[in-house]
Amino acid sequence: MADLRVKKVKDFSAEITVPGDKSISHRALMFSALSNGPCEITGFLASEDCLATMHALAAMGVEIEQLGAGGTHIRVHGCRGQFKDPGKPIDCGNSGTTMRLLAGILASQPFETTLTGDESLTKRPMNRIAIPLEQMGAKIKGQGDRCTAPLKITGRPKLTAIQYESPVASAQIKSAIMLAALAADGKSTVTEPHPSRDHTERMLNYLLVKNIRSGKTVSIWGGQTPESRDIRVPGDISSAAFWIVAAAARKGARLLINNVGLNPTRIGILSVMIRMGARITERVDESGCEPMGSIEIIGGGLVATEIGGAEIPTLIDEIPVLAVAAALAEGKTVIKDAQELRVKESDRISAVAENLRRMGVTVDEFADGMEITGGATLKGAEINSLGDHRIAMAFAIAGLFAEGETVIKGVECIETSYPGFTRELEQLQAMSR
Ligand code: S3P
Repeated sequence: MADLRVKKVKDFSAEITVPGDKSISHRALMFSALSNGPCEITGFLASEDCLATMHALAAMGVEIEQLGAGGTHIRVHGCRGQFKDPGKPIDCGNSGTTMRLLAGILASQPFETTLTGDESLTKRPMNRIAIPLEQMGAKIKGQGDRCTAPLKITGRPKLTAIQYESPVASAQIKSAIMLAALAADGKSTVTEPHPSRDHTERMLNYLLVKNIRSGKTVSIWGGQTPESRDIRVPGDISSAAFWIVAAAARKGARLLINNVGLNPTRIGILSVMIRMGARITERVDESGCEPMGSIEIIGGGLVATEIGGAEIPTLIDEIPVLAVAAALAEGKTVIKDAQELRVKESDRISAVAENLRRMGVTVDEFADGMEITGGATLKGAEINSLGDHRIAMAFAIAGLFAEGETVIKGVECIETSYPGFTRELEQLQAMSR
């Protein structure tokens, strides 16, 4: 198990870019594989999670070319959704997006496939996609009442359209249904309690697949094949989030992040940091498939806030690092309506609470969130990542503000979403010395 050692930094001034967006990279791979020809993808995130999707598609007969060093520029040859039987189980690694979205594609394939994953992924609930996909006509067999992986999926080439009311705001559920709906007759709809990230809707529209949003409902028509087009993936706002908090909470710091995704369904972190007192300026370019641009952050003293309701899906993956921001802010921050955090790569409510307490912070844990009392000096501590990339990186940022050394145990998991994070952290520490 690898450790990461972090020490306190002073103020800094930097200009950075972050690797490609994970959610958009998964979709770029899958949707171009479904398309009618070659698609070049630039800015692709060559991290473990997205490589799990790439290897799965390759095992299903999709030709994927590497067009340069670093793995960020690739060409996918679309097969119009005519995949080949992989003949053996597909390993989705740590990636929930791979498993859930792929299940939506496999629901209509004329063969049986088994999807499996690592220790964390095989504990996560898959009934949330199994229920709607079975209603559409696929057969899905998982383990126990939460239908955990390994998942055996028996596809049915002609699926039935569905009008589905999802109990959770989840882009993974919505996208799995939308992908299956392409193989159904007529119009399918998915309604969510609050809108989740809309990368699937945007990218399908960009590939000329008709789908329409009206309030909390998205509609999509079956029988459509995505048109092959080149796709540019912006930098991942969820990776940028770590540096946003590092700069916002450090008086005198200035940070410019270029080429980052600024999709309104993903940028809840910016509104929260502004409420907490950070000075943030955005420059957005709306001309591509996804809004992207630059953000400048000027650090200052932070104050507590409340985060909940419809804002949660817009910042769900950023809550661990927002909890660190809360620990550095004056006052009590309340995070609520975030019960989904309990079923991510780890139980992120208990992981955040336990690790913040190790650093000397008072945290009250609730079923759906926590209250964090900010303002106390953070103490360097030994942190347990629980094999969860976002916990490892959030607490590396906490270490930049702590007295003494912080040691993060088990940082290999960072490779699932942010190759290069440790190098960036070292550069920042070197710069501030
Ligand atoms: C993702 C959606 C989110 C997010 C995950 C990636 C996606 O999950 O937490 O990291 O790519 O669709 P849910 O949609 O299940 O909340």
